[in-house]
Amino acid sequence: MITGYRTHNNGELRMAHIGTEVSLVGWVQNSNDLGGMNFVNIRDRYGITQLAFNMDANASLCEASRKLGREFVIQAKGKVAERSSKNKKNPTGDIEIIVSELNILKEAKLPPFTIEDDTDGGEELRMQYRFLDLRRNPLKNNLLLRHQMGLETRKYLSDQSFIEVETPYLIKSTPEGARDFVVPSRMNPGEFYALPQSPQTFKQLLMVSGYDRYFQIVKCFRDEDLRADRQPEFTQIDCEMAFVEQEDIIMTFEGLIKHLFKSVMNVDFDGDFPRIDYAEAMARYGSDKPDIRFGMEFNNLNALTQNKGFQVFDNAEIVIGIVAKGCANYSRKQLDALTEWVKRPQIGAQGLVYVKANEDGTYKSSVDKFYSEDDLKEWANQTGAVAGDLILVLSGALEKTRKQMGELRIHMANELELRDPKVIKPLWVMDFPLLEFDEESGRYHAMHHPFTSPKKEDFDKLDSDPGNVRANAYDLAINGVEVGGGSIRIHDSAIQSRMFDLLGFTKEEAQAQFGFLMNAFEYGAPPHGGIAFGFDRLCSLFGGQDSIRDFIAFPKNNRGRDMMIDAPATIDTAQLKELSLDVKIVAETK
Ligand code: AMO
Repeated sequence: MITGYRTHNNGELRMAHIGTEVSLVGWVQNSNDLGGMNFVNIRDRYGITQLAFNMDANASLCEASRKLGREFVIQAKGKVAERSSKNKKNPTGDIEIIVSELNILKEAKLPPFTIEDDTDGGEELRMQYRFLDLRRNPLKNNLLLRHQMGLETRKYLSDQSFIEVETPYLIKSTPEGARDFVVPSRMNPGEFYALPQSPQTFKQLLMVSGYDRYFQIVKCFRDEDLRADRQPEFTQIDCEMAFVEQEDIIMTFEGLIKHLFKSVMNVDFDGDFPRIDYAEAMARYGSDKPDIRFGMEFNNLNALTQNKGFQVFDNAEIVIGIVAKGCANYSRKQLDALTEWVKRPQIGAQGLVYVKANEDGTYKSSVDKFYSEDDLKEWANQTGAVAGDLILVLSGALEKTRKQMGELRIHMANELELRDPKVIKPLWVMDFPLLEFDEESGRYHAMHHPFTSPKKEDFDKLDSDPGNVRANAYDLAINGVEVGGGSIRIHDSAIQSRMFDLLGFTKEEAQAQFGFLMNAFEYGAPPHGGIAFGFDRLCSLFGGQDSIRDFIAFPKNNRGRDMMIDAPATIDTAQLKELSLDVKIVAETK
């Protein structure tokens, strides 16, 4: 660590260094003035070291040290000495520096919040002063973890003969399903580049070019509503392979994930990751990324609930029950709160039915008017509820109700603390539907993207029953988070053009949007497929946190703003003119 300024860093010195003359640099963490002695803690990204100033030994230097403010950048030269009162919590806590020379390299304004692990700064303020927030250990550790994850990813994939190839950021829209961010072109007035939602088409072109194992740790841009696990610009580990089948891809990238867990966290997995079909995942968990750290699986109560005079269930396409273990003692207030929770617009249920399997063997439900104790007992048998448990029931249209119940399942697991961050449960979700019907536009959309290949067994349904065609598409979910997804690509022009038909593209539209790719496929396209992992999501999962924001050095807030540089912002008229643009805000968007 020797440079012109320092001989060691602030996390490095130990008892073995006693007597060594050193020069340290860093930021003033805090001071402790004891009158005859003044102690100053100096910090850099490696750690904290105590500097000691003694009035008797050097009064003027000690006085100078008293004038140091928090976050001043200083250089201290002196001798390493054993400390009389050691600090076992700090790796350098056995020693201190008896300072003989002190240089202020840069004074600092008082920071707007304390640079401590538990800071007093609110979220907004810390986003505004992100460069200061990044000095704190929690964020620093996240960035170190991210660095290590990137390094290990590159190691593993390089060892498997993958090469990293960069692809452009100024492109034409990629058909990934979210909105594009666009960039006006000065040299082509009225025309716009789009920022890639992923390098999807480029990696497929690289397969045509013969680079049969490609990867890239790459920025992707999507203009979508933001959540804890979504940023408008995020990073993917983007991968593609040629001459492979689905199984080759799954095993190669299961290997990557296992390598990351082993090398970064020293976590081993027994055997292969479990797999589940999309259809089964929806039926058992109401989610295409089920958290399988806990049970609480769905039970179909259709047969047991019909024709007892309760219209809500009679008219429902599906009646689903889940069991909250040991929750029969929920109070009226708690149950009301749950009912309110499912009725929130984000969930959208009409109401919630509950059954308490009481400890004394009796049953009490919110639908006692329609169902006898014997009926409820049957529900308990069907769902596996025993004395002390609570059955929660939702009903309605199939897909909607499954999703609502999926949300309630996660909510209950959070409430009951069943989602142990120390337990890691990966799950491959296989055979996604090829298409999803969009009520608003009245047509099919590609569930993954238009180049995803249908399953061979379902080819004949492409005409008769397109909604039920399954794709060679897979996601990896870990602990209920979708960390990656990919597919085997269509590699036959006839199927590709059938796919475009289904998606409602005319030949001309398909040619205009994807002509370059279809054209390339005419020149010897190998069979290929791939996957992309959400790198920020993997990092936050490894770091044991829900939000990806703190694993990104300079993230955006929930309104897509960078609070520090204050972006987005208007541009001046000269710049607009250069771009041949005039701005007229037509309507305020949400
Ligand atoms: P997909 O759209 O599933 O696939 O994206 C791959 C993974 O990227 C992560 N991800 C995000 N992370 C943070 N913020 C976001 N806004 C965001 N959006 C997605 C998720 C997701 O699983 N080109 C295909 C991959 C392929 O087919 O090879 C693609 O981009 O973890």
